[in-house]
Amino acid sequence: MSGERSIDLVTGAFSYTGSHIAERLLESGRGVRTLTFHPERVHRLHASVETFAYRFDDPAALTRSLEGVDTLYNTFWVRFDHRQTSFANAIESSRMLFFAARSAGVKRIVHVSIANPSIESRLPYFRGKALVEFALAQSGVRYSIVRPTWIFGGERDVLANNIAWILRRMPAFALPGNGTYPVQPVHVDDVARICLDAARSVGDVVIDAAGPETMAFCDLVALIRDAVGTRSPIIHLPPGLMAVAASALGLLVGDVVLTAEEISGLMAGLLVSHAPPRGRIAFGQWLDEHRTSVGRSYANELHRHFVTEAAA
Ligand SMILES: NC(=O)c1ccc[n+]([C@@H]2O[C@H](COP(=O)([O-])OP(=O)(O)OC[C@H]3O[C@@H](n4cnc5c(N)ncnc54)[C@H](OP(=O)(O)O)[C@@H]3O)[C@@H](O)[C@H]2O)c1
Repeated sequence: MSGERSIDLVTGAFSYTGSHIAERLLESGRGVRTLTFHPERVHRLHASVETFAYRFDDPAALTRSLEGVDTLYNTFWVRFDHRQTSFANAIESSRMLFFAARSAGVKRIVHVSIANPSIESRLPYFRGKALVEFALAQSGVRYSIVRPTWIFGGERDVLANNIAWILRRMPAFALPGNGTYPVQPVHVDDVARICLDAARSVGDVVIDAAGPETMAFCDLVALIRDAVGTRSPIIHLPPGLMAVAASALGLLVGDVVLTAEEISGLMAGLLVSHAPPRGRIAFGQWLDEHRTSVGRSYANELHRHFVTEAAA
């Protein structure tokens, strides 16, 4: 499979961002290995990628899976605490991964983080990401940290797809507060390209991955509503009530649709970059090209990670 070719390891090559990174690496002639909780997941890249299960329970096995790897592209993270999955465990697992990479002689880690992480944040996602970046900086391996804003596009898109699904299927679309807080969506192919470019950096780098358009969240929702051609009313709810509405929808679809912390992060305007955008694909143009397909079916995150394809 990987033969004599140089090998890179992409965590989550059969999942969302990781699959786009893996695809680009394969196209450029690199051998690709992956770590995943779903080694049996049916995926078009399966035959081209050497597959190992994450072994956060066994540091020696984790290190062996990284032997011979030039660059580790790390997408591993969790969106919310659920069953045995927690932010605390994800921080610890990330730390183990970085130290296993160092033991295995990995030359560089390209780490996918998030825009605006902060140790000071009261939001576990953003604070956890800052702690993981700190652990990476302590690992002794050269690193490139890529901080995306809000990722859209591709087969496994969740956010834009599910906004479109709600607009198509529900009697109304609720958004928290006045909706004027900004978002700056970045296409998943742009994120993958930025990650591959970042792998060629000299020294340690930290860069944002953000799209070319910044807009108010309410304008993004209105754009999607126009694209899918519904007249669904858009209503504004206080954040507390919005969390209740999101939980109710979650019960209906069997998913965690939006957490209270995600509502806070969205309303705090954290899904934007303050650097010149590196993304090229405009959200509006992508939406125009996908208006008939986006949101036709619901993308269920719980299902993906916990139900249909049992964790190894
Ligand atoms: N999606 C966005 O809009 C967005 C925005 C900004 C930053 N990011 C960051 O970009 C990175 C990749 O995000 P993504 O959306 O592309 O993630 P993803 O593909 O859904 O998952 C990435 C990796 O994490 C594992 N994983 C995800 N949820 C898990 C859970 N609950 N329990 C155990 N393992 C889990 C996946 O396991 P499997 O291989 O088994 O699937 C996969 O290996 C993350 O670091 C995320 O914080 C994402």
